Amino acid sequence: MSTSPDTDIAKRAAELRATLHDWNYRYHTLDAPAVSDAEYDRLFRELSEIEALHPELRTDDSPTQRVGAPPAAAFQASEHRLPMLSLANAFSGEELADFDRRVRRMLDLTIENNLEYVAELKFDGLAVSLTYERGVLIVGATRGDGYRGENVTANLRTVRDIPLVLPADGVSVPELLEVRGEVYLTKAEFERINAERSAEGRPLFANPRNAAAGSVRQLDSSVTASRNLRFFAYGVGEVSGISFTGQRQLLDALHTWRFPVNPHTRLCADIQEVESFCEHWAVERQSLDYEIDGVVVKLDSLELQNRLGSVARSPRWAIAYKFPAEEAVTRVTGIVVQVGRTGALTPVAELEPVSVGGVTVSRATLHNEDEVRRKDIRIGDWVNVRRAGEVIPEVVSVIPERRPEDARAFEMPQRCPICGSDVVREPGEAVARCVGLSCPAQILERLVHFCSKGAMDIDGLGPAMIQRLLESRLISDASDLYRLTVDDLLALDGVQKKLAEKILAAIAASRTPALDSFIFALGIRHVGESVARLVAEKFVSLESLLDAEEPAIAEIKGVGPAIAGELAGFLSDGNNRSLLDRLRENGVNPMRFQANNAVSAGLAGRSIVFTGTLERLTRSEAEDMARRMGAEPRSSVTGGTSMVVAGTGAGSKLQKARDLGITVLSEDEFRALAGAQD
Ligand code: IVH
Repeated sequence: MSTSPDTDIAKRAAELRATLHDWNYRYHTLDAPAVSDAEYDRLFRELSEIEALHPELRTDDSPTQRVGAPPAAAFQASEHRLPMLSLANAFSGEELADFDRRVRRMLDLTIENNLEYVAELKFDGLAVSLTYERGVLIVGATRGDGYRGENVTANLRTVRDIPLVLPADGVSVPELLEVRGEVYLTKAEFERINAERSAEGRPLFANPRNAAAGSVRQLDSSVTASRNLRFFAYGVGEVSGISFTGQRQLLDALHTWRFPVNPHTRLCADIQEVESFCEHWAVERQSLDYEIDGVVVKLDSLELQNRLGSVARSPRWAIAYKFPAEEAVTRVTGIVVQVGRTGALTPVAELEPVSVGGVTVSRATLHNEDEVRRKDIRIGDWVNVRRAGEVIPEVVSVIPERRPEDARAFEMPQRCPICGSDVVREPGEAVARCVGLSCPAQILERLVHFCSKGAMDIDGLGPAMIQRLLESRLISDASDLYRLTVDDLLALDGVQKKLAEKILAAIAASRTPALDSFIFALGIRHVGESVARLVAEKFVSLESLLDAEEPAIAEIKGVGPAIAGELAGFLSDGNNRSLLDRLRENGVNPMRFQANNAVSAGLAGRSIVFTGTLERLTRSEAEDMARRMGAEPRSSVTGGTSMVVAGTGAGSKLQKARDLGITVLSEDEFRALAGAQD
């Protein structure tokens, strides 16, 4: 018996509901998404379209009628005074123009009428609501299902961007104020957390958003506090006794109440201007130190917003423009093992080539054996692949419904595929390693890393050239690079004088690296760029780093005990010491770390002291400015102080800063650094 098309559609709707419910649960409650956002959006759209054509199929519990997931039992529920809505999506300029037409039609406006929009970045974090009564933070909650969230007040109190008390002076704060915004993690902090987890053999967070969500939904607030979460405010819920005319004005008010408001926000005269803002940020997003996944477009006028109201799930006056997917679906054709510079064996998925956010991807890292098992990735599987910024593409998840019968599980080899040495996995470690001391893959990878950008940055020395230098025995470790001559290089097939001279010039130029670049270049396990910077900041010169004991390293904020142990172990190893000696004998001389590096690297997490009388800022305005840049204002100058801002009449603190070699800025320099407008 054949089923009628209507029953087929009803069946499909039920199927979509069940799948989306499951994905919602994994995303919101487990902080472990099962599929890419793009895949979720695709199914969500399909269900919305079916429901639009067949309203009788729309059930009350349809995922289109709800936002997110109900609160987890671990936290107390917190009822939102006004629902926290979600946004409809637009994926192209055309869909933005449709949105503008729709808004005009519903408001009885023609193309001649002005209609201003506020375009804001869409931060990829976790939506929260903060309730202030008489200026004091009373409740902080997650969005949950939009009506009831989780009470995570204790955790949100640890987020330094979130004011606990609003200023009583000057700007009047409403009796009741509910602020909404996004808690997020910087990319650097995300990497730091994952490096630490990897060192501890714990599963890695898939992306900064999951890490932020996992950090807010912690039972132990001290864990949340250790994660350096950040916050941007972008709206309000219930507010008593005050009304705004527009979104732009509302953001300005939030700013005067000392909430961090993102500076890249634009009041646009029309939808074309919104579109160019979206195009701009689709590219420029790479330059931000936090992730965004689109632009939120809001009708500026609150009066018009009220006239439009909302449909079940989202307001009619706003839309989320989503950037082209950085995730895509493809098939795993094989799993190979790569040997890294520390001997770590990394399983890598070979993929049917697929375009991810405009780049063709044919390989993706699977991190380690446990990750392969946890995600249950098998050869032959269909998977979601993700590319985030400059990070290597990775397999996010398997699509279990599409698993072929002959899919094969992955086994870590017992011997190194390059040198045949034993592969060992220490108890408590996530990573299996080749123990071969002279494994050619390790030597090559160490050198490739040493020469790479961010490390010694030697132009012209890529993997292929390094491989040739090793094979021809011109070098056996990094120190040999600094003894190469033009004649040595000319001995290599196809290398002309010009190229040889260029390479030697690049090698010579790398003799005086910044200390943090040098530490990073050594390729010490778990010492990535951000840890290297922290270490350089603490020890200032290579000489004092070489004298450092493990406890002194472990004291550095942001460097866990596992990393400190690794670094101390590296520095006390005889072979490493002799490599460092040879590098120095061959003229490599890292520069002393300059606090100015801290300026260009941003102030996040650094301490700053204001002293003397500032002319144009009150002390608390200056401190707030510093906080907005991620710095921590402190009252006394110590060795750990990153910067001192000196006003008129500065005395002993200024002197102490000079004695300690700490960067001293004038008020104007500080304001310029903070991007203050005149
Ligand atoms: S406004 C009714 N503005 O995007 C308007 N949301 O689906 C509700 N988000 O998870 C939100 N940046 O947390 C708004 N500048 C921004 C945003 C933003 C990120 C998130 C929000 C929610 C989702 C909306």
